[in-house]
Amino acid sequence: MPAMRVVVLVSGGGTNLQSLLDAGRSGALGPAAIVGVISSRPGVRALDRAVAAGVSARVLDHRAFADRAAFDAALKSEVQSLGADLVVLAGFMRVLTEGFLFGFEDRVINIHPSLLPAFPGVRAPAQALQHGVKISGCTVHFVDAGVDTGAIIAQAAVPVLDGDTEETLQARILVEEHRLLPAVVASLAAGGFRREGRRVHRVP
Ligand code: GRF
Repeated sequence: MPAMRVVVLVSGGGTNLQSLLDAGRSGALGPAAIVGVISSRPGVRALDRAVAAGVSARVLDHRAFADRAAFDAALKSEVQSLGADLVVLAGFMRVLTEGFLFGFEDRVINIHPSLLPAFPGVRAPAQALQHGVKISGCTVHFVDAGVDTGAIIAQAAVPVLDGDTEETLQARILVEEHRLLPAVVASLAAGGFRREGRRVHRVP
């Protein structure tokens, strides 16, 4: 039994999921293991990645539920049935309700392609370009019921270059995401972070 059972929630391509699966295979996640993947959409590439890695993959199509509360209740019971110690949102395009988060305090994290609190929500690299910032990056944070508002665990910066498009900036940020997310999961599994209110400290 791994010391930390990780369930990854996805909705799309799953390149961040792939970085976690690769890190798990190479031993870079330490005592953490990816034990399940749940997608809010059918037919996405992330599901193929999970299957290729031999990880349990399920679809919970949000369109099949009457409202967010019903979807979150079903999602929570799937996550619990997988025995999750940590839930990682990796390109998961749903906002979780308090109902899901209750009982999972400090055990749900998300990766977002901006230096939060700047540019929460969708199309963060496009927002960064619209504002003309010179540095952007990615953030891993604990999840609360807001949109990308939870306590920040770790960030990585990238330059915004003249001539960048949404696609080129997104690609540069993704490279850092693929480093940062597995590093944070490994560190969480090793007890490497302690949250005090909105501030998350590294445990020496
Ligand atoms: C990433 O940019 C992530 O930060 C955001 O959605 C994107 C997901 O990409 N939340 P992928 O599905 O992991 O390739």
